[in-house]
Amino acid sequence: MDHFRTQYEKLYDSDQYYWGLEPADFLSSLLEVVDKEPKDIKVLDIGCGEGKDAVYMAKQGCQVTGFDITESGVRKTKLLAEKNGVEINAYVDDINTFKTNEKFDIIYSTGTIQYLFPENINSFFEKINNITNIGGIVYFNVFVDKPYLPLPPDWDKEEKMWKTGDLFTHFKDWEICKIDEVTFEDNGGGIKHYHCMDNILARKKI
Ligand SMILES: C[S@@+](CC[C@H](N)C(=O)[O-])C[C@H]1O[C@@H](n2cnc3c(N)ncnc32)[C@H](O)[C@@H]1O
Repeated sequence: MDHFRTQYEKLYDSDQYYWGLEPADFLSSLLEVVDKEPKDIKVLDIGCGEGKDAVYMAKQGCQVTGFDITESGVRKTKLLAEKNGVEINAYVDDINTFKTNEKFDIIYSTGTIQYLFPENINSFFEKINNITNIGGIVYFNVFVDKPYLPLPPDWDKEEKMWKTGDLFTHFKDWEICKIDEVTFEDNGGGIKHYHCMDNILARKKI
């Protein structure tokens, strides 16, 4: 993977779906929080991986945009969309530098925020605020550091552990629908380990 910025470029470069095809369990509840018909809901998936979540949202009728830094992930996202008979605007981009002229009703990012370089964190959340429609929601999670948990074996060199609660500080002007912190087991990289993750679901105030 030497010249790639993330191990996922190679991990996705196979017929198998590294993350499987089951969408994240929080997705169905996101649609219930937004006061619009699915066909009118514009979704942005930041770090869409191989597209399982983006395709799920498109299958619910939403207009879905997703980007990931991996070409292999974006290729598989498009393939999965095609196989499911839905359209997704999927492209390669970097969470650190992405730009868009669009606004969204749901912006979510799972397992990717920790790839933000420290100097881009504040401008990223300002951008998120600017591109979320009033009444729209965000769902984000990020891995947080715990002294009793070693760094995961499948950690990329560009990933940075966050401190407990830091994610939430970027949403003080938003309506907080849910925040929590969970520790869970993972087998990524073939070695059993644990992660601790902060999660937030917040709505941009009217
Ligand atoms: C833990 S995976 C999560 C993938 C997907 N969200 C999911 O839940 O299946 C992290 C994702 O972040 C992507 N990624 C890594 N660095 C990135 C960057 N700078 N910008 C955008 N995506 C990045 C990886 O390629 C990978 O797909």
